[in-house]
Amino acid sequence: MLTVSTQGVNALADSYDALSLKVASYIKNQLKVKPDSCLGLPTGATPVGFYQYLAKWSKNGEIDWSRAKCFALDEYLDVDLEESFEYYLEHNLYQYTNLPDEHKFNPKDSSDYDQIIASFGGLDVTIVGIGRNGHIAFNEPGTDKETRTHFVPLTESTRSANAKFFHDGEPVPKQAVTMGIRTILDSRVIVLIANGESKQEIIKEALSGPIGSHLPASYLQEHPHLFVATDFQFSGAQKFELPT
Ligand code: PGA
Repeated sequence: MLTVSTQGVNALADSYDALSLKVASYIKNQLKVKPDSCLGLPTGATPVGFYQYLAKWSKNGEIDWSRAKCFALDEYLDVDLEESFEYYLEHNLYQYTNLPDEHKFNPKDSSDYDQIIASFGGLDVTIVGIGRNGHIAFNEPGTDKETRTHFVPLTESTRSANAKFFHDGEPVPKQAVTMGIRTILDSRVIVLIANGESKQEIIKEALSGPIGSHLPASYLQEHPHLFVATDFQFSGAQKFELPT
């Protein structure tokens, strides 16, 4: 058993595709068991694979999203629509589903995102990636554990990692709004996803090092229902399946 939490397990996969399939299957099952689930959804490169599975199954009518509520984890504040996370989620997932528009939530549209989340009963499952500097959503190093949804200036590390999503010469955003660390920790289940060599060190540090605001993902160690889905081995990891 992993030391990351008392009930958390690690879902190691042999490849990015296998990792994507595991996470997508978990979400599919969640919506079967609880059709009105509230989901916290990430953007970036890592989630693309599991969104592809969810999109495929949704097109085939295998997933009913009509009662689900989806909450983007974060959003840029200074970008054109096509570069926004709102567009990313629409493009990668929502357009293939029967998720009603009024069930798509984005933190830039609300002055009290946490209150909206609470009004639907709270987040059931939140999937988070991890930044090379240990951020979760846009909670950069130094962010207080008790933060709720808030505005943030982005660090140079995050901006340079995100530059790959922008065309040459296009400015990389400097401002964002993000669920806070407490918003994420309040989710009943958290699935932390990471793939590739560039994430190995930070995953190890986040899950076995000291807990603190120097590395926001380290707070996930304290969550009672954390699942860590990676396509690489790391110290303390064993091969467990995500529950379905
Ligand atoms: P990535 O981003 O999936 O594009 O690596 C993860 C993150 O920064 O949260």
